[in-house]
Amino acid sequence: MRRSSIATILLLACGFSEAELHIEVTPAPIARGEYLVMVELGCSGCHSERDRSRYGFPPKEGGVLAGGVIFSELSEEAVSPNITPFALGTWTDEEIFDAITRGVRPDGRVLDPHMPYQRYGLLEEERIHEIIAYLRSIEPIAAGPYPADFPGEHIAFEPQFGALRRPDSSASETELGAYLVAAAGCNNCHLGTDGGALTGEPFAGGREFGGPGIGLIRAANLTPDIATGLGGWTREAFLARFEGMRESRYWPVKLGEPNTTMHWWQYSDMTQSDLSAIYAYLRTLPPVRHSVVRFEPRPGEAPVSRSWSERVSTVPAEGGGFGAGASPAD
Ligand code: HEC
Ligand code: HEC
Repeated sequence: MRRSSIATILLLACGFSEAELHIEVTPAPIARGEYLVMVELGCSGCHSERDRSRYGFPPKEGGVLAGGVIFSELSEEAVSPNITPFALGTWTDEEIFDAITRGVRPDGRVLDPHMPYQRYGLLEEERIHEIIAYLRSIEPIAAGPYPADFPGEHIAFEPQFGALRRPDSSASETELGAYLVAAAGCNNCHLGTDGGALTGEPFAGGREFGGPGIGLIRAANLTPDIATGLGGWTREAFLARFEGMRESRYWPVKLGEPNTTMHWWQYSDMTQSDLSAIYAYLRTLPPVRHSVVRFEPRPGEAPVSRSWSERVSTVPAEGGGFGAGASPAD
């Protein structure tokens, strides 16, 4: 008797704590959520069709967070979902929270780990609440549902909230920079490679992106090597490089002309203090001598779009688009 009443109390307690997740959609959390979604973590790179006629493949106008990117290395019908209220409007806060931090959808399917829930599940719970507040606040964009043929069974992530947290203002710049590059996943693209194979030195560059009709794009060496990395860069030069890219999302580029998968359209909106902290952190890395050719044209190849809306309106094509790695993390 006593036992069952304790169980009832526990069940009620659990039930209550779940029902309690009700996220305040008010200006302060929305603003912090916007910085997380659009700048610091960058959900839009994977959840928006990309404009291949602009520098850096920025999200297509009118399609931000509306999904539609084909992860063609997984399947021709593995398409990132719409995460505007058009699609998530019927989800509870708890359901969105679980998708972002554990990779579990309301129907129980575990998401493909290209969705970085294994990283987001390390952030503080409050950050996730802010992300949800922002996602609730944006305009719904009617797009999808898309096919979600992400092959393979995956295991739900066990979150460790706070393992990855923005240090408070008493922390050093280097600590803040370390947090930011981890949260943003810069090294997923900037990891060292040799002739295409990953060699693993953090930030040594060389990872290849691009594809048919695009050309070959390689990530830069960000270690402080003087000859081949950022060794000769002053803090001012680093900040100016990002500042100079703020309008790059509007620069027209023809297919096959030099382009980049660096999310300049996203990171140039970082605050000066965040960029400065990243610079301070990158200076602490061991220098790696690794010279990287950032762009090689690949003439004569037919371009293939990774945008679902273009793919369904044209004849289905073979092969990949501008590379899985064009997403901020995988
Ligand atoms: C590197 C690419 C990538 C990034 C970055 C990314 N996502 Fe995802 N996300 C995906 C993919 C791919 C799926 C679908 C996976 C599947 O269905 O198995 C997904 C699924 C989701 C879902 C489930 C929606 C549904 O209908 O199933 C939510 C919610 C979501 N993402 C939110 C976010 C938020 C919020 C961020 C940023 C904090 C983010 N994602 C960043 C790739 C990404
Ligand atoms: C999606 C892949 C990707 C991600 C994520 C990414 N980068 Fe890059 N980055 C590149 C590529 C490719 C280049 C080389 C082409 C260019 O200069 O734009 C590059 C270039 C750079 C450069 C210019 C270096 C130079 O010598 O001119 C800097 C600085 C840089 N990245 C910093 C970062 C930081 C900091 C982050 C995380 C906040 C980051 N990148 C995330 C792909 C990426």
